[in-house]
Formats: sequence, structure tokens, C-alpha cells
Amino acid sequence: MENEKTFQPIRYFEEAGFWLLSTENTSYLFGRASDGRLQHLYWGETLSDPDDFAALGLETQTAPSGDYDDIAVRLQFKGSLPVEEYPAWGDFLYNEPCLKATFADGVRDLHLVYASHSQETGPEGLPLLKVTLKDTLYPLEVDLFHRVVPGLDLLERWSVVRNTGSSPIDLETVLSAGWHLPTRNQGSYRLTHLTGRWFADSRVRRALLPDGKTTLESRRNITSAEANPFFALDWWDPENGGASEETGEVWFGALGWSGSWKITLERASEPERVYVAGGINDFDFRWQLAPGEEFVTPPFTAGFTPKGFGQASRNLHRYQLDYLLPRAHANKPRKVVYNSWEAAFFDFNEAKQFEMAERAARLGVELFVIDDGWFGHRFSDRVSLGDWYVSPEKFPNGLGPLIRRVNELGMDFGIWVEPESVNADSDLYRQHPDWIYQFPGRPHNEVRRARILNLAKPEVVAYLYDCLDRLLGENNISYIKWDFNRPITEPGWLDAPPERQREMYVRHVRAVYDLVDRLRAKYPAVVWEACSSGGARLDLGTMRHFDQTWPSDNTDPFDRLFIQEGYSLAYAPKTMVAWVTDSNGSRDINNQALNLPFRFHSAMTGALGLGDDLTRYTPEREQAVIEFVREYKEIRPIVQEGALYRLLSPRSGPIAALQYVLPDRSEAVVFVFRHTEHYWQAATRIRLQGLDPARRYRVTGLKAGQEIKVSGQSLMSLGILPELSGHFASTLVKLKAV
Ligand code: DGJ
Repeated sequence: MENEKTFQPIRYFEEAGFWLLSTENTSYLFGRASDGRLQHLYWGETLSDPDDFAALGLETQTAPSGDYDDIAVRLQFKGSLPVEEYPAWGDFLYNEPCLKATFADGVRDLHLVYASHSQETGPEGLPLLKVTLKDTLYPLEVDLFHRVVPGLDLLERWSVVRNTGSSPIDLETVLSAGWHLPTRNQGSYRLTHLTGRWFADSRVRRALLPDGKTTLESRRNITSAEANPFFALDWWDPENGGASEETGEVWFGALGWSGSWKITLERASEPERVYVAGGINDFDFRWQLAPGEEFVTPPFTAGFTPKGFGQASRNLHRYQLDYLLPRAHANKPRKVVYNSWEAAFFDFNEAKQFEMAERAARLGVELFVIDDGWFGHRFSDRVSLGDWYVSPEKFPNGLGPLIRRVNELGMDFGIWVEPESVNADSDLYRQHPDWIYQFPGRPHNEVRRARILNLAKPEVVAYLYDCLDRLLGENNISYIKWDFNRPITEPGWLDAPPERQREMYVRHVRAVYDLVDRLRAKYPAVVWEACSSGGARLDLGTMRHFDQTWPSDNTDPFDRLFIQEGYSLAYAPKTMVAWVTDSNGSRDINNQALNLPFRFHSAMTGALGLGDDLTRYTPEREQAVIEFVREYKEIRPIVQEGALYRLLSPRSGPIAALQYVLPDRSEAVVFVFRHTEHYWQAATRIRLQGLDPARRYRVTGLKAGQEIKVSGQSLMSLGILPELSGHFASTLVKLKAV
């Protein structure tokens, strides 16, 4: 970082009354308006001389200078978009508020003004600014936190709302943060986001932002496959287009919440302005804040880069690796996993699992996982969710003998659970039919025959903790896959006081985080994977409590290129588990079984796993798999710790290419996929990125048996021409500095 000694990530300019938050390449500015409100001023490329802020009159860009109390002027500006750093509902605010509250006397109006501020260094050594606002008349305070991640050009924001009075306050909206993008005159902001459904998770969508509000959200109390709490906005004009992977200004952000969430992007044109507010979804939300209580929002992390979508992703990936992922395993390699799901579904028996374990070990698997089906009387998805004891029919001797064998074979043992769900046909439900969310007397919607346990009830959480504690305490389990296979319906918690019943959404998610955190503290060696019918719990909240995630139930290697591309927009490849399977087991989706190299290469771009029925392997197949697993382990540090460059998107042509480069640029790998060979078209070169131009690299994988030595400069300017033949061809190109 430039001039490390004098670099100050947080500066307060007392006279002007503004705070300047600086990262390596960006500045973020907000200040106190004359009436004490907190006003956003600037977010973008570094403004190096603070005096220029005053000279350039930045304040006039977003709000009138001078008499800010003049009603006509305020209407004019506030009528389009808010200017406050954290807009609260009251006054002339007609836009998405970050905060909306009702006081005990029925007053529903807030005027937040500056009260105090302080600065400290947070746990990871990151600078933290706290600005406290208070309502001008009523006993409500808000702490606005801004945590600066200087080397990654990111800011983490959250807020804490406090009741300092003696009567309860009803919170109707409490978002984490509002972000303001610079005003522009010609062109439009363009939104990139992720959308999908089960089996088609994390798909990239890009469209110009229309006037008015665009809301990305989940009301399902899981993050959802339909929308993901991530946004990126770039500047698009008809003449020059928008940002690309490597160039152009991009503002982007992601929310750390695994329940119902929303991100609302509001656009006002002429001049073009965009404001983005996000946090816990306020749909069907109400939280009663008792006297003296606080409500803490989840963090909303955002950043700016002038270097395109690729840099935005790389910054988010590094942020996860360096700060977000649970520290116990953040720096350890993700192991090659074998998972039983697609091979066995619910059809287990001890003898077959012993055989699978022997075979998995031969292949180089490091973590042997039995998925759904090991507990209660779980012969189908109709029964036993909630009964977390080992199936006496499938494992008459308990899990001990299998785990011992797995360990003897040099592998860790892992297991699947779905703690939040219950089947009506279970001992647990028979004993505690009142432990689920429900509106009594109304029908229950079941999804995958399951209902949802009410984790707002402490006794339910205590039961789950005991079950999982027993499971981990009695068995040498090194990994838990925590699944949750249904969205909320009938969210009733009717034995709570009426004013508290809607708190269940938030209490549920907090309970999940808390359960995992407490179990992590007791069993620090265990690795946790989050899953929700595939990728429906993919967000920065998950990343804070789990080590990795399952991106999609779709393991078709070609579909995965699209799903994984979307995943990589915001989330680190190290966390992205990808199995090679017999094209989705018995389901045979897309009616195709692609060739083995294509399948492996697709899965090797994340954390590799296997999901086939290994007893069906021929000796030739086994040999080939051994070789791919060995190769993955060799390049694993580059894929899991390196910087990702999306060289060619599968969305834009027949060839997709992904490059990973070690932080010291000594090694890189490039995966190239061609799904169709068209029109006898000549292949074109692929220009690499992120290498050291001055070093020479030994390059293999372009042509069978060939090895060449080329400078980083040439690899990035001339590019490579890998030999690919026919449909669904792929190759892995390896580069090592010599
Ligand atoms: C959904 C998950 O995404 C699958 O991987 C598998 O664990 C099943 N649930 C098991 O029920």
C-alpha cells in the first residue's frame, strides 16, 4: 500500500464535519449536514487531497449546500432519492428507508441526527468507525458501523438500534446499510445479479436498471436459489458499453444473512442516481425492542473497483479467505470428499459402505461422507427427520466400525444432518407436534414431506444442540454437512405474545448461527458445509459460520460451468464443492454422460469431490480417477488460494476458460472447456491474466506431451492456443515460473 506509514483508513475532518474512509484504491466520504443529519458525499476512486473535497463542492452533487432546511429544496432532492447515509422513515422520505419504527404512543416519525463518534481497531486489526445518531425527540439511538478493509477496497457496514427509553419500540424495518452511487449525466447504471431455481442455481443476469425500485429478495427464510444477496452495478453507455471482466468501474456488494433478505436498488434519472439499501427483509417483519435492548443487523459488505467485474470478485474472494471464513479452517486446504448421496440415496448398508470406503481411499479421497439416510428409519424422505440416532437397520453396530475403518484407511469421516426440519412420521414430531411453525387449524404445507422446527423456541434449540453434541461426542466425526431442504410456509409462532410472533424469522437464523458456533467452539476440528437443496443458503452469513457450501444439486459438468461462474461472482472457489458423478446418479439429467476429463475439469475449478457408485468402477476408470485426483491435489493450492480470472464466460460462446494464479504469481492453471465445435471454425488464442510479465513460465497442457517456456508478457499479450477437438473437449494448462 502506498506510503504505509501515513496511510490512515479513517479520518475525521472536524471543521468540515466529514469522515473520509480510505482503502488502497477508493475513497468513501460522508459528513454532518448543518442540521446534524448524516449525509453521503462520495464513493469511488481515491480522492487524494482532502482539501479538494471542499473546493470541489462535493456536497452540492447530492444535496443543496446552504440552507438545507429549506423545504422546497429538500423536497426537490429528497423527492428523487435520499441523501442520508442511513435514511430513517419520517420527514420527506418517500424511498426505501433503512429504519422504520413505531413508538409506544403511536408516533411513526424519525429524525436521526449526529450524537457522537469513535474509532477503534476491530478483532482482525481492521479499522472500525462508529457514528452514533439519535432521534431528535424520542429515546432511540442508532450506531452506524463502518469497517474498512483497506487492502481489498471493501467496506463492511452494519447498524445497531437501541431503545434508550422506558417503553417498547416496534421496529418495522431495520436494514444494514444504504449505499449511494455517484450522480452521472449520460448513460445508465447496469445491474448484474444472480438468479435461478433448484438445479439451476446462481445464474448470472445483467440488465440496465429501470427507473424506480428494483428489489432482489427472499421471503423464504433461506437465502434462496431464486435470488442471491449480491449486486454489482457498472456504468453503461450506448457508445462505449459497460464494464468488462477486467476494465470499468464497478460498485458491488453482498449481504451476510441466511434468512429472508432484501436488496432494493432505487434509480432516479436526469441526472442518474442510484441508491442501494439492503438487510433483513422487512416483509412480515416486526421486532419489539424492549427498553434497554438493542437490535444488531447483519453486515452488508460493499466495494468499488475501477478494474471490472473480475477484480470485484477477486476482492470478495480474498475477503472471505482472509477475514470471513471461520478461522479454524480458513487457511487449510479443502479435502477431496467422497459423498454417498447420488450413489446410494437412502439405500445404505454397512457392508457396501465398507466397500465404498476401501475404494474411495484407493482413489485418493481424504474425507468420506455418508449423506442423508443413516439415521432413524430413514428409508425414504417421508420419515425420521428429527430422530438423530443411528439407524439400527442399516448400521446395527453403530457408526463406530465404519468410522474406524475409514480412519484406518487414512480418511476423515463426515456425516449429513438436516436439523431444522422434521417429518410428521418421526418420534420427535409424535412427541412434540407443537415444535413446528404453524397456524393451528390451518393445513400444513410440506416440502419434501418435511415441516420446519420452530427455532425461536429455546427448548427446540436445546434439543438440537444435545442431538448434535451427542453425535459429535460419541463418534470421530470430522465434517458435518448441514442441509435445509425447504422454504418457510405458515410462519406461525402463536404461543409467543402477538407483538413478538413475527420475530421468528430472525430468531430462526440467529439460532442456526448460534448452534453452529457453539458446536464449532466445542469441536474445533470439525469442518462444516452449508447446503440447502443445493445452493439456497449461499451468502456471506453462511461464509462466516461454515467452511464451504454445496452450490447446486445439479452435478452435470456443463450446467455446472454456468452455475459455478455465477457462484464465483461473489463467492470464493475454495468454498465451492463440486463432485464428479455419473451425471446426477440415477436421475441422468440432461440425458447425457459427458467424458471423464470434462467432468473432472469442471469439478476441479472448486473443491473437488466424488459422488459415483464406486463399486461400479472398472479398473481402467479407477486408474483414470486416481490420476485426476492426484493432479487436483497438485494444483489445489492454486485453485483454492489463487486469484481467479474468468477469461471466457460459458455464456458468451462455445469456449469457457478460467485461470487461477497463486498470489506470488509463481504458478497458474488454466481450465479450458469447449462445449461445441461449430462450422469448422478456427480456434482463437486465449490471453492470460495476472502473470508476472518479466518471468518465464513452463507451460504444459496445450498439446499432448508438449512443454514450452514462454514469458508472462507473451502469455498475456499473444495468449495460448490449446488443442481441443470435438464437442465437450477440455484441457488443464499448467504454468510454473522457471
Ligand atoms: C439436498 C442436498 O443438496 C443433497 O446434496 C443431499 O444432501 C440431499 N438434500 C439429501 O436429502
